[in-house]
Amino acid sequence: MSRAIPLLEAIADVGADPVRGGYSRHGFDRVELELREWFTAEAETRGLDVHTDRNGNLWAWWGAPGPNAVVTGSHLDSVPGGGAFDGPLGVVSALAAVDVLRARGFRPARPLAVVVFAEEEGGRFGVPCLGSRLLTGTLDADHARALRDPDGVTLAEAMSTAGLDPAWVGRDDEALSRIGCFVELHVEQGRGLVDVDAPVGVADSVLAHGRWRLTFHGEGNHAGATPLTDRADPMLPAASVVLAARRIAGAVPEARATVGRVVPLPGGTNVIPSTVDLWLDARASDDGDTRAVVDEILAEAEETAKAEGCTVTVREESYGGTVTFDVGLRDELSGVLGGVPALPTGAGHDAGILAGRVPTAMLFVRNPTGISHAPAEHAEPEDCETGVVALARVLAHLTETPC
Ligand code: GLV
Ligand code: MN
Ligand code: MN
Repeated sequence: MSRAIPLLEAIADVGADPVRGGYSRHGFDRVELELREWFTAEAETRGLDVHTDRNGNLWAWWGAPGPNAVVTGSHLDSVPGGGAFDGPLGVVSALAAVDVLRARGFRPARPLAVVVFAEEEGGRFGVPCLGSRLLTGTLDADHARALRDPDGVTLAEAMSTAGLDPAWVGRDDEALSRIGCFVELHVEQGRGLVDVDAPVGVADSVLAHGRWRLTFHGEGNHAGATPLTDRADPMLPAASVVLAARRIAGAVPEARATVGRVVPLPGGTNVIPSTVDLWLDARASDDGDTRAVVDEILAEAEETAKAEGCTVTVREESYGGTVTFDVGLRDELSGVLGGVPALPTGAGHDAGILAGRVPTAMLFVRNPTGISHAPAEHAEPEDCETGVVALARVLAHLTETPC
């Protein structure tokens, strides 16, 4: 049994989604606020001092806050219908690692903090790693405040409702300057560790990736009374983009392009939509390949929209180039853990954002299904415990050595 499991069990009912399966936990919604309260209580039970920074990230400090702190943590929000481990495993493992260290009578020589980043998945406001992007100044504060959720609620309004002042949102050099190094533990989101038969590994790199929102504008009309020749149906170019994404990314090694969300307006069975919103997620090994894939898909969107008498507008919602984690830190931590493997990932993380500012590393815990962002995501209790022990070892090591 892992020390992480009772903590995961304590939140097993929070945000369970009866329709999609799995969990729907989104930034600053009722469910995520409940998880924040739970985290705060757990951290305080361990004698950690909890505060919320200007961007809604939660920090639990062992010792006085920074500078040169060793920071670990992850996120508590999920994709719609996500698994139980993506995010929460990193948070509960951090708390459990603190338990391991405290039980040993360990006193960190440098400040140590557990962080919970806000809205990592972008499941509510569209931009992933919202809290870490704002903290590091890689997302404009005015732009962020105006982001809207599917119900039209702005981030500023959601933060106000959560008791936070959106006027303070933005790059936070004070919070950033406290971080000496950051280590995020995460469930693996592929089968890399299964393939090499290892319970734990360290991260090597993250694919370049971004999100684009395409809005196809057509003419809303009657599905029965409008001859096919008289239509400007925005669903047609949207459909062509779904197929183009697979075809175009399929021609580029390591590239992937996905359409996971299509919203026709008004959304009636017997109604030709007036608009269709489509979100494109595209990733590849480097900027050049990612941009080339996206440019080609967007060109096809323009062409097919025009052919149907429609137009398309495009908004880049987020973008991040390839991340190579600090090689020295990666190898050091792999060594501390007895030479665990290093592996790349196609998934984005707050650690990928932090890596642009501070020495950053990630630990991955084996996922036997290899599935993530879906209810089948899994990690065995023994592997979770190996992750907790590995994280505790890494934190002890880092607090005793400069990074
Ligand atoms: C986050 O998990 C992402 O890779 O989109
Ligand atoms: Mn995720
Ligand atoms: Mn995650």
